[in-house]
Amino acid sequence: MNLNKPLVLMTHELPEDWVGELLEDYHVIKGINEERGLDSSLIKYLDKAEGILCLLDDPIPAEHLERAPKLKVVSNMAVGVDNIDLAACSRLGIAVGHTPGVLTEGTADLTVALLLAVCRRLPTASEDARQGRWTNWDPTGWLGVDLKNSIVGIIGLGKIGSAVGERLAAFGAQIIFTNRSPLPEKEKKLNATQVGLDELLRTSDFICLHVPLTEKTANLINEQAFRKMKSSAILINAARGSIVDTTALTRALKEGHIRAAGLDVTEPEPLPPSHPLYKLDNCLITPHIGSATFQIRQTMAKIALENLSAGIKGTHLPYCANPEIYT
Ligand code: DGY
Repeated sequence: MNLNKPLVLMTHELPEDWVGELLEDYHVIKGINEERGLDSSLIKYLDKAEGILCLLDDPIPAEHLERAPKLKVVSNMAVGVDNIDLAACSRLGIAVGHTPGVLTEGTADLTVALLLAVCRRLPTASEDARQGRWTNWDPTGWLGVDLKNSIVGIIGLGKIGSAVGERLAAFGAQIIFTNRSPLPEKEKKLNATQVGLDELLRTSDFICLHVPLTEKTANLINEQAFRKMKSSAILINAARGSIVDTTALTRALKEGHIRAAGLDVTEPEPLPPSHPLYKLDNCLITPHIGSATFQIRQTMAKIALENLSAGIKGTHLPYCANPEIYT
């Protein structure tokens, strides 16, 4: 091991042309791609590591951080940092890097794609065509619901929620939203109305989740929430799986408490192939691809490396999720 260079533990391989040169300044030890978090091949180097480069499904718990006295930075190639014990990092003076902004538009695009695919029943229609069940132009076949004049409820009008609101307002939907703080400018821009969660759940035709996963938002959409929704409601989740109670969602879809769901994120993630949600034709599931474009993923990697480099140099991270460590 060349310890003239700072040691970086990298949980997952990234394409050479995304990170190649940027990693040359470090001695990098890579983990096993199929494993999540710091696998045993990485854990044994924690005492010497100055940086960790990880992905959003790599748990980085306090017990690992506490075994890394030299660790200066945990750089997550994601905007969400719910996989990292942020409080422990702050307590230990470890900077946490993330990648906000770059995936806003792409994730909003994917949210709208999911919503349209679910409300116009694209997976069922496509499968029926493929299987020879398209026998005539059927006046009552594959009917979906209109987006125009519908009420779209956005839970969390941050960057991604606002970008979704802009897109859906252009489709002629009426936007309502919940947010921690009042947002009069966004209300004006989107011709939207800020409401309480109960009202949003009761009145929305489409409900889109765009809050980060925190203690407060975990299981926010639970059995009681589903009972409040219209039986025609469609739920779209491209935020974090744990915001929705998966068992309650499965029941709501099976028993018709809501019409359908589009999920880019699930709990657990990945959702095992045997999961009952896959058997429901009113549920469309994609494998957490909100940011999956060549351009976005490459930029995310670049920002993650910039954060890593700043952290190891001891300078302010360009995108820091726990800026309190600097005060
Ligand atoms: C993130 O970066 O947190 C997103 O979920 C990736 O798609």
